[in-house]
Amino acid sequence: MTDKAQRHTTSGGSLIGRPVDRVDGPVKVTGTATYAYEVAEGPPSAFGFVLGAGIAKGRILEIETGLAERTPGVLHVMTHLNAPPQPEFGPAVTPAVREVFTRARPVLRDGRIRHYDEPIALVVGETFEAARAAAARIQVRYEEAAGDFGLEERRGAAYAPQRTNAGFDTDSAVGDFDAAFAEAAVRIDMTYRTPYQHHNPMEPHATLAIWQGDDVTIHTSAQTLSNFRAGLAATLGIPLERVRVISRYIGGGFGSKLIVHADSVLAALAARILGRPVKVALTRQQMFANAGHRAEMLQNVRLGASADGKLLALGHDVWSATSRVEEFCEQTAVFARSLYAAPSRLTRHRLVPVDLNRGEWMRSPGEAPGMLALECAMDELAERLGLDPIELRIRNEPDLDPERGVPFSTRNLVTCMQEGARRFSWERRRSEPGSLREGRKLVGFGMAAAIRPNYIGAAAASVRIEGRVTARLDMTDIGTGTYTILTQIAADALGVPLAAITIELGDSRYPLTAGSGGSWGAASAGTALLRACEALKRKIVNAVRTQPGTPAQKSGADDVTIAAGTVRFGERTEALAEFMRRVAPQGLDATGSVEAGASTESYRAFSQHSYGAHFAEVSVDCDTGEIRARRLLAVIGAGRILNAKTARSQILGGMTWGLGAALMEESVLDRRYGCFVNHDLAEYHVPVNSDVPDLDVVFIEENDDKANPFGAKGLGELGVCGAGAAIANAVYNATGVRVREFPLTLDKVLPGLATVAL
Ligand code: MOS
Repeated sequence: MTDKAQRHTTSGGSLIGRPVDRVDGPVKVTGTATYAYEVAEGPPSAFGFVLGAGIAKGRILEIETGLAERTPGVLHVMTHLNAPPQPEFGPAVTPAVREVFTRARPVLRDGRIRHYDEPIALVVGETFEAARAAAARIQVRYEEAAGDFGLEERRGAAYAPQRTNAGFDTDSAVGDFDAAFAEAAVRIDMTYRTPYQHHNPMEPHATLAIWQGDDVTIHTSAQTLSNFRAGLAATLGIPLERVRVISRYIGGGFGSKLIVHADSVLAALAARILGRPVKVALTRQQMFANAGHRAEMLQNVRLGASADGKLLALGHDVWSATSRVEEFCEQTAVFARSLYAAPSRLTRHRLVPVDLNRGEWMRSPGEAPGMLALECAMDELAERLGLDPIELRIRNEPDLDPERGVPFSTRNLVTCMQEGARRFSWERRRSEPGSLREGRKLVGFGMAAAIRPNYIGAAAASVRIEGRVTARLDMTDIGTGTYTILTQIAADALGVPLAAITIELGDSRYPLTAGSGGSWGAASAGTALLRACEALKRKIVNAVRTQPGTPAQKSGADDVTIAAGTVRFGERTEALAEFMRRVAPQGLDATGSVEAGASTESYRAFSQHSYGAHFAEVSVDCDTGEIRARRLLAVIGAGRILNAKTARSQILGGMTWGLGAALMEESVLDRRYGCFVNHDLAEYHVPVNSDVPDLDVVFIEENDDKANPFGAKGLGELGVCGAGAAIANAVYNATGVRVREFPLTLDKVLPGLATVAL
């Protein structure tokens, strides 16, 4: 254990880092954890069903709801003609980063159609089935307009946004890229395509809205309650204080639940009209048009290197589709500003407007698609240079952040690659592609780096001891293990057993946090909670010292120890709970907080990222082109690990996602109609158990004391970063066929196999 770890250990054996089982595991596996749509609170609820537009662009000329209204069991039919007033849909670009999360997002406000399946009506019935049946009886006449859906052929219409998602500069330039690239001895100039993708958490977007007078309680599935609450209040045109949001359990988010969606707005509007609670959930199919997506992208990577493999010029250009109505520029090339040394550099983001729903954040915005391009290009460069891909990366390891010029807080990329190579038997990789065979299988090895920024969001926590310890934050647990790590943090800080802690999350009445997103959750909420617990501990120690008749009154503060649920002062040891009952029967409270990382000196002075290295072994069938991943390994350097089990699970999920991005995931857009045709889990392919091979995750010892008091860094999204590129590089190594269009389905590999695999 490191010094840093010791410093926050009160009991000798730190609880931080241990593979503690999920504290919410029992309620999850027994089905007693209540998700939004299952909440039974207040009077019996009615059920809403959303009807979506059958065209992608235009307006409603006529909408006939009479049949639907007369359907037995139907309580209300809402369209743009009778929906309560809402603010106008604001400008496509919001002036401040935070407003992107909190702006009004009206639904059924006008008869305009901005994208396929945009809600045009809500039918509310006594049952879900009645509402759905009635929705099918609504007749609509549209005036249809031609929409734009293509990216490649419309690259000429691309524009430069003011900034990318998360407020990064749209472009960056260092040195003279064009000159350096032109003069480089070895050049790679490749364009990669990544498709539309959808998040599809197991729990769809769902809301129960309950009004009491002018106050509404929203049970929903949201990642960040404060943003969600602000966005909903703005949409409904009511003061923030009137809205309470509750998300105690969330069945996955992946970025699709960072903002308000139609289910919440419509449930709130209808519940107010009907004077009774209303539930609305999006169907799986509706989520493909109404819960955001990752946009299609073209990425041009240009790498210029000296003959000995030093990068001289690094260029990463991204063209991405974006909604006309609401701009979203994924920060796809931003990671490239920090990953490798090169004196001349150029990164640029351009957007092509299309008539689709807005793009949204999707697990590891930026790196997930961006590393599919750059990390494959690095592999292509390594081959051109005759260098091992790891050696190429080591030769371009920077001393300082290459564009910001500041030191790294911690950066163990090289260690991760070397450790991974050793564990993965990387020496078995043949440098000549297509040369390792097992019968009719071609076998290949690939690797890629992983990088993901460490964010800290503003957060606060309250903690109370009264017998048990109860901590409250408006933080969410979207399945990542937040309840568990916060339990560990509180127990560790207070010197009490895990079982003495209750963590209460997911209620907007609790102290504000940045919620779950961007891999900032654990460090942000955790730091706030740690500080609250430290403040509480000071109060307890103070109580020991000031309590009349307590021997500790005579002893100094240093003589007071709280550990293993006992308080020790002077010669005496007493159970903490008993002691508290005696000296503070009314309990003790404390709060703690952390400011947003971006506003701190440590963030300005250091480049803070988590790193890793991915390794993949694949086989490709000579005759069918079928690609199977055989082994995947991730070696991760992400600061101190808070819980070895939940951290590993996060990386396993990310690697599996990387496997999907490399080989399967693609939302197929019908460019005639502007709709995603494979809009369900039968046709939108993600890896299933039989697709996922032996996965191995290794965390290297690390402690980032610049990041936060734990020395932990963001981890959740790191697992997907580079994972797909490692697989794509392994496919190339197996076959000698380089596919630059994701996903790498067998039809793209097979034609090239004809020559390789005879
Ligand atoms: Mo994440 S895509 O910021 O929830």
